[in-house]
Amino acid sequence: MTRVIIITGAGSGIGQGTALTFAERGDTVVAADIDVTAAQHTISRTSEPTAHMAVHCDVSDELSVQQMVASVRARYGRIDVLVNNAGILISKPLHLTSWSEWQRILNTNLGSVYLCSAAVLPTMLKQQTGAIINIASPHSFATTTNIAAYAASKGGVVALTRQMAMDYGRLGIRTNCVVPGAIDTAMLRSDIAHGDGVEASLAGWARVQPIGRVGQPADIANVIYWLAGPDAAFVLGAAIHADGGMLAQLTPPTE
Ligand SMILES: NC(=O)c1ccc[n+]([C@@H]2O[C@H](COP(=O)([O-])OP(=O)(O)OC[C@H]3O[C@@H](n4cnc5c(N)ncnc54)[C@H](O)[C@@H]3O)[C@@H](O)[C@H]2O)c1
Repeated sequence: MTRVIIITGAGSGIGQGTALTFAERGDTVVAADIDVTAAQHTISRTSEPTAHMAVHCDVSDELSVQQMVASVRARYGRIDVLVNNAGILISKPLHLTSWSEWQRILNTNLGSVYLCSAAVLPTMLKQQTGAIINIASPHSFATTTNIAAYAASKGGVVALTRQMAMDYGRLGIRTNCVVPGAIDTAMLRSDIAHGDGVEASLAGWARVQPIGRVGQPADIANVIYWLAGPDAAFVLGAAIHADGGMLAQLTPPTE
């Protein structure tokens, strides 16, 4: 029996890389995205597209999440792994962040972890097994200027990961999160699409990560895959840093 994996935000970046990694290794993938065309494109890149499923889902909307999870249950009858990956970023200081922008970021990045997890947990609890992997950020632990709502949302993701590990660990469900460094995706490129230009900014991120390069979606997908599987059976409530060493350093290197 193949595992059934729901990945939110699977139409792009880390989510797409994760969907392709699980599919290549024999799992059944549900690519859920607010951009269903992008999710369909991800599934079309797998070697057996008809085995998998692309589905529209706005992870900040309760009904949309419930409908997505119901459609997965109806087709496959089980849910083994949930990857809460969908996220958005606005770079603004708190006083210039409108209430509606605040709510949009918090609901998409943190509310979604609540909504998607609440929707899959009854199935996982019945199965007495499951893995939930949330995507946090270096901003969960340290920060730069002017990124208030995003940093708050990602701090919340780590706290909620710990809580879910406590509450559901004894019931067979392991919850952990991954802390990606700077990963070359549409989100990173649109955030740095000002100032020195994208390529120069990417080179700057490569310099501040001790590994000396920007990450690729596959760097994170491999960690998510490991966390979802039996080799990580004793890992619970962890925030796994896959950040090229970004958070390990006290000061950026001098040239
Ligand atoms: N790229 C990085 O450097 C980086 C670093 C740390 C953490 N992260 C986190 O990794 C996750 C993935 O980011 P990425 O860089 O791959 O971004 P991305 O922009 O490439 O992809 C995000 C995907 O989420 C989807 N999405 C956005 N809002 C949604 C919603 N309401 N409902 C459903 N889907 C929605 C988008 O359509 C898109 O397909 C995010 O949670 C992000 O905060 C990224």
